[in-house]
Amino acid sequence: MKGIILAGGNGTRLYPATLGVSKQLLPVYDKPLIYHPLSVLMLAGIREILVISTRRDLDGFRRLLGDGGELGLSLCYAVQDEPRGLADAFLIGADHVGADQVALILGDNVFHGPRFSEVLRTAARGVDGCVLFGYPVHDPERYAVGEADDDGALISLEEKPRRPRSNRAITGLYFYDNDVLDIAKNLRPSARGELEITDVNLRYLAAGKARLIDLGRGFVWLDTGTHESLSEAGQYVRIMENRQGVRIACVEEIALRMGFIDRESCYRLGQRLAKSPYGRYVMEIAAHP
Ligand code: G1P
Repeated sequence: MKGIILAGGNGTRLYPATLGVSKQLLPVYDKPLIYHPLSVLMLAGIREILVISTRRDLDGFRRLLGDGGELGLSLCYAVQDEPRGLADAFLIGADHVGADQVALILGDNVFHGPRFSEVLRTAARGVDGCVLFGYPVHDPERYAVGEADDDGALISLEEKPRRPRSNRAITGLYFYDNDVLDIAKNLRPSARGELEITDVNLRYLAAGKARLIDLGRGFVWLDTGTHESLSEAGQYVRIMENRQGVRIACVEEIALRMGFIDRESCYRLGQRLAKSPYGRYVMEIAAHP
């Protein structure tokens, strides 16, 4: 399965914080926001990943992540000149996906929860159709909203409904079979001129091939689109990391635990950051995994 991180957009709701730098490069407490979606794909076992961003910001991501080789990944980059909607990722990323399945994740979504890697790896196994991830929120009208039957089959889906039928928001993580490339190619832009991911998912729903996995109330899903929510995400990460002594979305640790890199490589990655507590954590993990 291939991965795509969509890290485009101008982050206008975060101005002036994003006037000089991409939203997904801003820190969530101790690390850049994009480490979060990158971690999710890595935990799903995905190593070939396309990062899509604006022409202005792509170099920042390249500086940060390079070709991914140090993390045992293979990263490539593509420009999205204008925000043409989330499903545009499948037009831009068609060659990258090839004949494979694909996971799309939004660059500003933060996920954290027990046994998440198990959930991801199970969901990624032989995707036939699409797999969506739902999360209960108090303001579902801000998101796509879905309902599933007892077997986890999606039975309804609406984008930002005025009167939501459930409190189940559809998060910014999507698994698809290869049909998604054709579906995206034949999609008509919505009233606001964008290729909507929800329209893609509605096609799968109509074909009876959409599943909804419930992340449940013990889980944490945060979005980071406003000053308030970005700051809250940082506070969450700080509190959890200080309390437990483990780091959330530490890509070097995940690469080590997933077997993408060995202990020596991990230690060297930590050493380069040794002036920060994050770097010393990576060295410690490499020495005593
Ligand atoms: C997008 C999607 C929406 C989804 C949300 C998750 O909304 O269109 O379906 O629920 O991401 O973060 P946007 O953030 O573009 O308003």
